[in-house]
Formats: sequence, C-alpha cells, structure tokens
Amino acid sequence: MQRTFIMVKPDGVKRGLIGEIVKRFEQKGFVLLNAELMTIDQSKAEYHYEEHKAKPFFGELVDFITSSPVFAMVWEGENIIDVSRTMIGKTSPTEAQPGTIRGDFAFKKEENVIHGSDSLESAEREIANFFDPLQLRSSDQMFKNRKS
Ligand code: TYD
Ligand code: MG
Repeated sequence: MQRTFIMVKPDGVKRGLIGEIVKRFEQKGFVLLNAELMTIDQSKAEYHYEEHKAKPFFGELVDFITSSPVFAMVWEGENIIDVSRTMIGKTSPTEAQPGTIRGDFAFKKEENVIHGSDSLESAEREIANFFDPLQLRSSDQMFKNRKS
C-alpha cells in the first residue's frame, strides 16, 4: 500500500474545488489519512519545490503557492502515486486530457489547481514537510472498529 501527498493549490481553494477533488479520490476508493487547510510559509514552499530551484519559474511558483491557503492531504491506496498522477493530468493545459482534474479545471500551467507526488521518494519527503508523522494513521488503524 502506498501513500501520497496531494495538495489543492491556492487557485483550487479559491475556486471552491476542494470538495470536487476530495470526491474524486474517495470515489476512486482511496483513503484519506490526514488533511489540513494551511498557509504555507516561504521555507516550506522552497523545500517542497526544491527540484525546481534553478528554473526560471521558481520565484513565481513559490510566490503563488504561499499567496493564500492550500488544502494539504495524505491519501493511501494501491499504486496511488501513479494512479493519482493519471487522475491529476499533465502539467500543461494543452496536454491535460478531459476527465483529468487539470484537464477539466485548469487552463494555465502556472496555476493548475492541484499537486501530487511523482514518486515514492518525493511522496515521503513531501508528506514529512507538511505533516507530523504521529498524526498519520494507517487505514487499517482508522477502520479497525468499523462494523462493515
Ligand atoms: P512540475 O513538477 O514539472 O509539474 P507537476 O506539478 O505536474 O509535477 O512543476 C511543478 C509546478 O511548477 C507545476 O505544477 C506548475 C509550475 N510550473 C510553471 O509554472 N511553469 C513551468 O514551465 C512548469 C514546467 C511548471
Ligand atoms: Mg512535479
């Protein structure tokens, strides 16, 4: 079972897309392990996007992601890292297919509604950047008292 870090970006929160995005992940069968509406500070944002530090868009990317609250989440499920990237769609709006989250809701590369980890390694470091490990249950723990 894999975990991944999913974040509704400031544009998605402003446009009221949290519910729609959570709904898609729930309907897929994935399990929400933690979530928080939070404003990201500069250092967390820079660490999150560290791989893009040398890119020309880095400054604007950090400014955007810290500009207003994001909805940060940890989700669990089989192959969730690859499956969630497929659900999210391509970075560029000209490539994001209809039916994907970006394909349906985003028209700009810079403001594309949602982030999802792209590998096991980045999922681990991104989750640790935003959540205390003690606040993360496993889905087994969460549902151990459930009747059905
Ligand atoms: P990237 O990791 O390439 O995309 P993804 O979010 O699909 O993993 O880039 C991170 C974010 O940086 C991307 O979601 C939007 C922003 N970005 C730009 O603003 N301009 C660009 O040319 C690229 C490639 C990304
Ligand atoms: Mg990326």
